[in-house]
Amino acid sequence: MSESSFEERGAGLPGPGCRPFTFFGGKGGTGKTTCAAAYACHLSSRGCRTLLVSTDPAHSTSDVLDVQLGADITPVAENLWGLEVDPALEARRYISEIQERMLSIVSPAIVDEIKKQMEIAYTSPGAEEAAIFDKFVELMDERGRAYDAIVFDTAPTGHTLRLLSLPEILGGWIENLIAKRRKAMEMFGMAGRFDKEMRRRAEEDPVVDALVRRRDRFERSRRYLTDPGSSAFYFVLNAEKMPILETARAVEMLMKFGIGVGGVVVNRVIPEDAGEFFRERLAAQKGYLEDIGERFGRLRRIVRLPLLRTDVQGMDQIKKIAEWIGEIDA
Ligand SMILES: Nc1ncnc2c1ncn2[C@@H]1O[C@H](COP(=O)(O)OP(=O)(O)OP(=O)(O)O)[C@@H](O)[C@H]1O
Ligand SMILES: [Mg+2]
Repeated sequence: MSESSFEERGAGLPGPGCRPFTFFGGKGGTGKTTCAAAYACHLSSRGCRTLLVSTDPAHSTSDVLDVQLGADITPVAENLWGLEVDPALEARRYISEIQERMLSIVSPAIVDEIKKQMEIAYTSPGAEEAAIFDKFVELMDERGRAYDAIVFDTAPTGHTLRLLSLPEILGGWIENLIAKRRKAMEMFGMAGRFDKEMRRRAEEDPVVDALVRRRDRFERSRRYLTDPGSSAFYFVLNAEKMPILETARAVEMLMKFGIGVGGVVVNRVIPEDAGEFFRERLAAQKGYLEDIGERFGRLRRIVRLPLLRTDVQGMDQIKKIAEWIGEIDA
């Protein structure tokens, strides 16, 4: 197993198409989990050591692969591993980590207040996204060394977009905190300039260290996400009006943040020979497919996956989809 980071090896290596980080997003129920699993399967069959990461509390990745995944990385097939991140659990862990750090810097008088605030933070919208983002960055940082590729099956569009725009928003906020803390410690050091212990505490401030580490982490995540050789984002949509409009907005937004959108996967395309019952739908689909071509033609790939006779279940069917979805790297 290679222990060098993907940056040391060079992004995109060892083979063409073995991009380090691939994200699948899109509206609910469009086929993100199916596509992420199939793409991970495609990469592993090409010899890329691939980790498939899901954040779905409904365990749909386990269901689709017929392998029980969990919070520990589990082998799925040759060159393929899976991990199921539990958003609620991650949020709990994330908030208590922040709480501990906060409690170590504040005066005992406001400890209860901090605890109360943290409890509110845990239930507030955004906590799970922040926690999952933290987990993603950790995976990109650490697991990028052990795997050639990580495939992320993300939550429905709105959540994911907020998630991916976090580095930009939080980066500035952390920078601000660092400056404030440095100033406070400077004053603390000055006040205690005749006290060796106080001086040492001011110089080796663990809080600034922790904040700097976090800021660096966000910076790295931005680097990963905005480098087309490292990351690509794919939207899964159906050839229908609402998913097209939502995807168009999402693509714009990711591009605004400098995140590379590799293309779109049009899933559940009704085959031409679907029969009389589908006649009207087929006619409408034709128009929508043209619309998709016009709107997303400037992206690198538009891949179509046909509507299958049954839902997608088990490795055999995933492998079949893997053959089609491999085209996104063609
Ligand atoms: N091309 C296809 N043909 C037939 N069934 C499909 C196809 N693609 C996906 N499905 C089925 O549609 C259902 C939803 O797919 P999937 O779970 O991949 O969507 P999702 O976008 O991950 O959903 P969620 O937003 O709930 O996470 C599943 O039962 C899956 O097997
Ligand atoms: Mg899913």
